[in-house]
Amino acid sequence: MKHSRQTEFGFKFSRLLWLLVGLAPVAVLAQNASAGKDKAGMCATCHGPTGLSQLPNAPHLAGQPAIYLVEQMKNYRSGKRPNEVMAVIAKPLSDQEIDDLAAWYASIEITVKVK
Ligand code: HEC
Repeated sequence: MKHSRQTEFGFKFSRLLWLLVGLAPVAVLAQNASAGKDKAGMCATCHGPTGLSQLPNAPHLAGQPAIYLVEQMKNYRSGKRPNEVMAVIAKPLSDQEIDDLAAWYASIEITVKVK
């Protein structure tokens, strides 16, 4: 009796371990806002240090949905959305870097007050 309970525990425990092992690569591939924050230093000149633009032609990025930011950066990279400046910026970015940058800007909370 005691033996079979231990076996059951061992079985559950090993399944838990496999679950964790299975999740590990997902965690590594997931969007990483803090890696994006590090990378975003080079975007700050135009889009502002917190994603709020200081320039007349550069849009705010703070609080934009990640799915939108990813799409736009990939469009600049491919040329689907033509823009001289952003084409040069987006060209060397990997999919992972784009995901991270998008995660960072999407994680910045903005508030809107309507008067
Ligand atoms: C030299 C200035 C400059 C830098 C540096 C720069 N951008 Fe931009 N960015 C722009 C301008 C200008 C636009 C608007 C282009 C257009 O009209 O499509 C833009 C547009 C964007 C958009 C589209 C936003 C929207 O509302 O559609 C995204 C996303 C973006 N930039 C991300 C980035 C990221 C991420 C970085 C850093 C890796 C970066 N940019 C660096 C100037 C810059």
